[in-house]
Amino acid sequence: MYRIRIDSRRCQGHARCLAFLPETVDFDDEGYAHVSRAKSLRVEMTDALRQAVANCPERAFQVTEE
Ligand code: F3S
Repeated sequence: MYRIRIDSRRCQGHARCLAFLPETVDFDDEGYAHVSRAKSLRVEMTDALRQAVANCPERAFQVTEE
């Protein structure tokens, strides 16, 4: 299983992660992303998850294996 984390210090609101994981990512009123459900969201690795990580230009969208 993997845990998703969006580093708020790095996120610049590019929204590429949203394109791959629309049910996982939400945005605050200022346009910065956060994980939409519990912060401890644990998920299986999927192509969409890999793509979200690979396409974040700020390296803000991160996953760690648990
Ligand atoms: Fe932020 Fe990267 Fe998504 S900059 S909005 S975490 S693509």
